[in-house]
Amino acid sequence: MTEPRDLGRILVVIPTYNERESLPVILERVRRAVPQADVLVADDNSPDGTGQIADDIAAEDEHLHVMHRAGKEGLGAAYLAGFAWALERDFDVVVEMDADGSHQPEQLPALLEALQDADLVLGSRWVAGGGVENWPRSREILSRGGNLYTRVMLGIPLRDATGGYRAFRASTLRRLGLDDVASQGYCFQVDLAWRAVQRGMTVVEVPIWFVERTKGTSKMSQRIVAEALWRITVWGVNERVARLSGRSRARRRAIAGQQAGAQ
Ligand code: GDD
Ligand code: MN
Repeated sequence: MTEPRDLGRILVVIPTYNERESLPVILERVRRAVPQADVLVADDNSPDGTGQIADDIAAEDEHLHVMHRAGKEGLGAAYLAGFAWALERDFDVVVEMDADGSHQPEQLPALLEALQDADLVLGSRWVAGGGVENWPRSREILSRGGNLYTRVMLGIPLRDATGGYRAFRASTLRRLGLDDVASQGYCFQVDLAWRAVQRGMTVVEVPIWFVERTKGTSKMSQRIVAEALWRITVWGVNERVARLSGRSRARRRAIAGQQAGAQ
């Protein structure tokens, strides 16, 4: 089991939008599973009063912090604000976790353990030992298809680049260049994983059991899928163009070198 001194100060960031029923349960489980960690709830002014519930619990728990954001701006924006909050306060490790219980806090020590030898750890549904429980077939197909498309389009080896249960070293976040992240929805996850791979970082996948929520509803929408599809396609095309022009530049240089040698 990971001791706090191994990794330093840990912050678990939980974005929320209308999670009043799920939030108290997940907070309780996080505090029990990783008592050494602090927790930040990043609430987008949920109409169901999730922010107030978080405040009430935080009043009794000095390790729980609440960020109130003006309105619903998407998962990506909430995480970026949470990361900035964590870096300003010198946390060493930042964890992403959904509020609805799909990411089991009891599996967090395994993610943290893997972070000892990695820059970024992805909780992965699609590696041996991982999986999903109670997910409709349509969601499973979407996730597997989305991950296949991501792998092929971006040429990265990750099995689950879209998942949202992760542990970052603070140093990793600082190196990812978060200032120009434009992804709003769930493709934020792909964006960050890809940035890490591009920078040659060590990205490790640890199997997780994703348990579909029993309370509240998913915020997944056609718009979120469309944004992901669009952005991943643009990144993939840009990458290919850059690679091709890089190759032709290298070829031109080689030819120029040969000509210079022949003279
Ligand atoms: N603050 C904020 N703002 N939180 C949000 C927003 C938003 O606009 N949209 C979603 N969330 C929060 C939810 O309240 C929840 O805690 C978490 O983000 C995940 O949202 P869900 O709606 O439960 O996601 P899901 O179960 O459909 O999707 C899961 O799979 C995706 C694709 O693999 C999640 O694990 C995603 O993280 C993952 O990208
Ligand atoms: Mn969910």
